[in-house]
Amino acid sequence: MPTVYIETYGCQMNVADTELMLGHLGAHGYRRTDAPDRADVILLNTCAIREHAEARVLGRLGELARHKQRRPEVRLGVTGCMAQHLRGALRERAPWVDLLVGPDGYRHLPELLSDDGDPHVALRLDPSETYADLPVAREGGVRAWITAMRGCDRFCTFCIVPYVRGRERSLPGPLLVEQVRALAASGTREVVFLGQTVNAYHDGAWDFAELLARTAAIPGILRIRFTSPHPADMSERLIDAVASHPAIAPQLHLPVQSGADRVLARMARDYTVAGYEALVARLRARIPAIALSTDVIVGFPGETDDDFAATEALLERVRYDSAFLFKYSSREGTRAWKWGDTVPEAEKARRLELLIALQERISGEINRRLVGTDVEVLVEGPARRTPGWMAGKSPQLKTVVLPGPAAAGDVVRVRVEAATSHTLSGQVVRP
Ligand code: 5AD
Ligand code: SF4
Repeated sequence: MPTVYIETYGCQMNVADTELMLGHLGAHGYRRTDAPDRADVILLNTCAIREHAEARVLGRLGELARHKQRRPEVRLGVTGCMAQHLRGALRERAPWVDLLVGPDGYRHLPELLSDDGDPHVALRLDPSETYADLPVAREGGVRAWITAMRGCDRFCTFCIVPYVRGRERSLPGPLLVEQVRALAASGTREVVFLGQTVNAYHDGAWDFAELLARTAAIPGILRIRFTSPHPADMSERLIDAVASHPAIAPQLHLPVQSGADRVLARMARDYTVAGYEALVARLRARIPAIALSTDVIVGFPGETDDDFAATEALLERVRYDSAFLFKYSSREGTRAWKWGDTVPEAEKARRLELLIALQERISGEINRRLVGTDVEVLVEGPARRTPGWMAGKSPQLKTVVLPGPAAAGDVVRVRVEAATSHTLSGQVVRP
């Protein structure tokens, strides 16, 4: 049996796409391996969201060139967003790559791998490709990632995703429900629906609220999450669904990107700061236990000191449980590319540092207030840093470490004894 080794870069969508490629290749006689030196096929499943992500892959391709030198028969492929974005440049900068496959080309992997000759490419975007009929080789474990929709139609001016992943398309709801049922039967306790704008999900009959309600009724599934919703697509029906089904976790990642209206308008985000905060207020009124996280970009072209101060003020007002904070990275092909990269690197770095410190403080304050309370933890496996301890998540997606006794899949009550800005720890309390 030929073997395949895949390294995954970037977001959860890519992790799910890797599982899809492994499932599809598995059905064509390939076996997965963790050892690149012995693999017949080496794939890098890549990300194009920021320049740094692409630079890492280019570096890694340089290292992998030695496998090709030692074993010329090895097939080396670049898949995913960066293959789609860099096509030409990749062929120039890493001519030893055999295979370029974009996010809509995974179906063709087996045939591309069976042919010899020049670099093989599958870079045509196909607005109807959902891979609904292909098998997925999931990691297994307590949580499963399920792609609900692919692509994005929003074209935020900074973002490369609509260009590399193509138009929005949803998988059939009944098929997703069947997948979740099967996963529940084999021990999965939590599902996370994925999509670039996951709450824009619509399969022609069901909207996203409907999909969630149907999934929430499946026995054995204790928690349902989804990522990432777009603030402008948060319908009342969706808020109702989250508020009314106990299995839908009280946790939402709601990317805001900036706290300044003029920046939001130039990003084409389709909401104002006031509109976003009104949404946050509605969510908190309907779902009091809800934890919120966000994404923020600093140094978008034209972002002034005042704009940045407005973002700091927004983080202070909303008080997110956590936030992913990024320096703007100009992406060729996007609308913002033409506006240049006007905020100097040192200033971007300064703004980022300030936001990180601010958010660490807020996350720490929020988490320390949980000391002395009990949280319900879905245990996932051994804790990474504390030997012998177990780790899991609270409904709010906070990492909780505990000494046990507990096994993966258990739900235990933990009395929080200590908290940092990223982790809670405590003891299991017996009922
Ligand atoms: N530069 C920096 N960050 C970006 N993101 C998307 N495009 C860019 C870019 N060009 C961030 C956004 C998005 C997250 C997934 O990545 O904050 O929500
Ligand atoms: Fe990119 Fe905006 Fe689409 Fe998110 S909604 S993937 S940021 S274009």
